[in-house]
Amino acid sequence: MKDLRTIILAAGKGTRMKSAVPKVLQTVCGRPIIQYVLDIAKNVGSLKTYIVVGHKSDDVKIYLPKEVVTVEQKRLLGTADAVKCVEGHLKNDKGDVLILCGDTPLLNKRVIAELIRKHRRTKAIVSFLTAIVDQPKGYGRILRDQAGRAVAILEEKDASVQQRAINEINVGVYCFNSAALFGALRSIKINPKKQEFYLTDIIELFSKRGRRIETLRTENPAEGLGVNTREDLAVAERILRRKILKKLMLSGVTIIDPQTTYIDADVKIGRDTIIRPCTFIENDIRIGKNCKIGPFARLRPGVRIGDEVEIGNFTEVSRTKIGKQTLMKHFSYLGDSLVGSKVNIGAGTITANFDGQKKNQTIIKDQAFIGSDSILIAPVKVGKKAIVGAGSVVTKGKIIPDGSIVVGVPARVIARRKF
Ligand code: UD1
Ligand code: MG
Repeated sequence: MKDLRTIILAAGKGTRMKSAVPKVLQTVCGRPIIQYVLDIAKNVGSLKTYIVVGHKSDDVKIYLPKEVVTVEQKRLLGTADAVKCVEGHLKNDKGDVLILCGDTPLLNKRVIAELIRKHRRTKAIVSFLTAIVDQPKGYGRILRDQAGRAVAILEEKDASVQQRAINEINVGVYCFNSAALFGALRSIKINPKKQEFYLTDIIELFSKRGRRIETLRTENPAEGLGVNTREDLAVAERILRRKILKKLMLSGVTIIDPQTTYIDADVKIGRDTIIRPCTFIENDIRIGKNCKIGPFARLRPGVRIGDEVEIGNFTEVSRTKIGKQTLMKHFSYLGDSLVGSKVNIGAGTITANFDGQKKNQTIIKDQAFIGSDSILIAPVKVGKKAIVGAGSVVTKGKIIPDGSIVVGVPARVIARRKF
């Protein structure tokens, strides 16, 4: 079998986003769009990934894994020019090249793998992915001949009114014979309207030369969504969110109201946990089994929650580890904390973790009881089975010994608990 290498196009400005942030770094369900595309390249058996960067390339490079080769596109002269920038790396390549756009976060790796298989089976010069969509606006339209063979991709700006009605669009995923690709790129002429070199023009070129062109139509057109505007971003978010929630429900998590539950892509939740409405669970979070989360809870990155924990209404937890059977049922904030098991976090408990300069840690050991409306000014440590009386302020640097009872402002030890 021929070798496969991948080129990801990610140099564009993303003008239509109207943003200071490069388009490929805009996030969908907590992850930059480019990460979804990188995952595809990794999962389809590609030997190496080349990513073409340009606009704010230093910002983009931070997100790229070390094994990816970055290639700079100095002037943003279109998708064909972007591919050409990789020629130096691939000029002697005898294999196939998969080209992906950096702004398509919903691609399905099984469909891409199928495209590559079809490309090899048919020995085509190029194979590309298409989709039938309700609103083709903004995408390249597929022109076919009488026999149904794809003969060209026509960009929106160059299409007539009739051609714009074509609802089969170019997803922006192509598998090329590498040598043929770089050979043909030289013949692509600048598009007079946009003053760019269009990669899509290569289809007509190959067609006129009588080369074999294959297409694969995705069954699920949503997978082909290219994010060009904030509206597209919201659509991608909605589609992916539904997918994430479905997967969690199928794995045994109860989501009472999927309409108002927001869970990011990198979240793991154990069986029989119940997520109540209006809850936000951001990236990099692990939640155990049999927990109850929400309503109106916000869990932020870096949270680890053990089994049988309750995080109730109007709560926020950030960069915090919580042991099993701990209860935090109402109006509380825990940040940068290490909380043991069977701890009670009373209503209104706040960890004051930020001192204006840096974040500090709060440690609450097993079976401690934090009374309502307490403020813990980090760094502090509350010992095992210690009790903090309601309304106490535990001041910075305080270490409450195991089993001690503290009350007041500032909190002082008034007794010891027997255990
Ligand atoms: C492109 C396709 C269109 C297809 C659509 C699918 C072309 C000419 N058109 O249009 O047929 O339906 O994608 O989503 O290819 N980029 C560069 N350098 C450049 C220009 C763009 O790297 O000089 C990158 C962008 O960062 C982006 C990708 O190429 O990731 C596609 O560019 P974009 O401007 O989004 O093209 P579309 O108008 O969406
Ligand atoms: Mg696009």
